[in-house]
Amino acid sequence: MRIRKLVLNGFRSYDRVELEPSEGLNLLYGANAAGKTNVLEAVFLCALGRSHRTSRDAELIGHGLAGAYVGLELETKSGVRNIEIKLRTGDAAARNPRDRKQIFIDRGRADKAGELIGVLNVVMFSPEDLALVKASPDVRRRFMDMELCQLHPAYYRKAAMYNAALRQRNALIKEAFVNPIDPDILDMWNAQIAKTGAEVMRSRRMFMDELSTIASDIHRRLTGGREQLFAFYQPNVDFDGGDAEYAIYDALEASAEDDIRRGFTTRGPHRDDMGIKLGETDVKVFGSQGQQRTAALSLKLSEIALMREVTGESPVLLLDDVLSELDDDRQSALMESAFDCQCLLTATGVESAVAKKGATVFEVKDGRIIRV
Ligand SMILES: Nc1ncnc2c1ncn2[C@@H]1O[C@H](COP(=O)(O)OP(=O)(O)OP(=O)(O)O)[C@@H](O)[C@H]1O
Ligand SMILES: [Mg+2]
Repeated sequence: MRIRKLVLNGFRSYDRVELEPSEGLNLLYGANAAGKTNVLEAVFLCALGRSHRTSRDAELIGHGLAGAYVGLELETKSGVRNIEIKLRTGDAAARNPRDRKQIFIDRGRADKAGELIGVLNVVMFSPEDLALVKASPDVRRRFMDMELCQLHPAYYRKAAMYNAALRQRNALIKEAFVNPIDPDILDMWNAQIAKTGAEVMRSRRMFMDELSTIASDIHRRLTGGREQLFAFYQPNVDFDGGDAEYAIYDALEASAEDDIRRGFTTRGPHRDDMGIKLGETDVKVFGSQGQQRTAALSLKLSEIALMREVTGESPVLLLDDVLSELDDDRQSALMESAFDCQCLLTATGVESAVAKKGATVFEVKDGRIIRV
């Protein structure tokens, strides 16, 4: 799919601006604070109904204005689609909170943001995604879960059921400080966690196996064959070649005493992680800034192929500020990689690699976007 036209009105720093990106690579360049990320944010908003950098929609409305508008025209396999988002603040919004964010799909008002799913698919890489490699395991768990939810919407329910069971067991364990626990009730929650947790672990393992091959491939391309990336699932409870449900159940039984002493459930997929290695080396610990960024990028870009498999269509790729920290070779390799999709890329200058590849170039300056 590809964006034919984007219109912003009162969105962030923009008064009114229109952008007609070309089919392949589009470079948006400009100084810091020129408004480059704002453009990608508007596209992301149309895809998911929320910003990638704030949960407060009011921040998206231009200072001093009562509302903002984002309109997007999309070309897909099934024809031309249209997405519009209207944001309101002030009296009108206060009177009717439902009007604070209005979403229109093909001119019809959508009841909830969920209806946007599948209309415009995007893969976004922003500077914060660098944290994927360096940060604590919860960031990598969120990555696995978000990807899984996008690719297999049924996963959302599985994860929610697991979390509900986990909350119940934790509540019971906390109670043990005051009253002795009924072993039958603990056993019931152990069984429930094992059953739902096994589903979560099986989904994550399948996802990581698929992701890993694609990510290694991309990483090899980006590094000109110099680096071999291994991304793998690190389940908190080992179930290699065995039944995940039994494995979790046994782990919970074995850790019950310890859990009660510590006041929470210490074993289970809520403590899973993803391992990321270059050859034999752990990138989290030993990788250079550029290596960590490349690894994060390879993992994220794998989503394009996975999405294409599931939806039969290429998503739109949004790359915010990825070129900094990559050397010339990696920049060229990234640009030359045939991702086979429309891409909006921001940078502070017209990078030589981009110019070579014959991208459509736009300058972002003084609240305007000019094709050069
Ligand atoms: N609600 C708003 N109303 C008006 N201006 C805003 C609003 N929100 C953000 N801005 C302005 O938008 C600008 C930031 O835009 P953006 O983040 O897109 O910059 P950028 O070009 O990506 O910069 P960098 O290269 O530093 O990443 C800032 O000048 C900021 O003050
Ligand atoms: Mg920016």
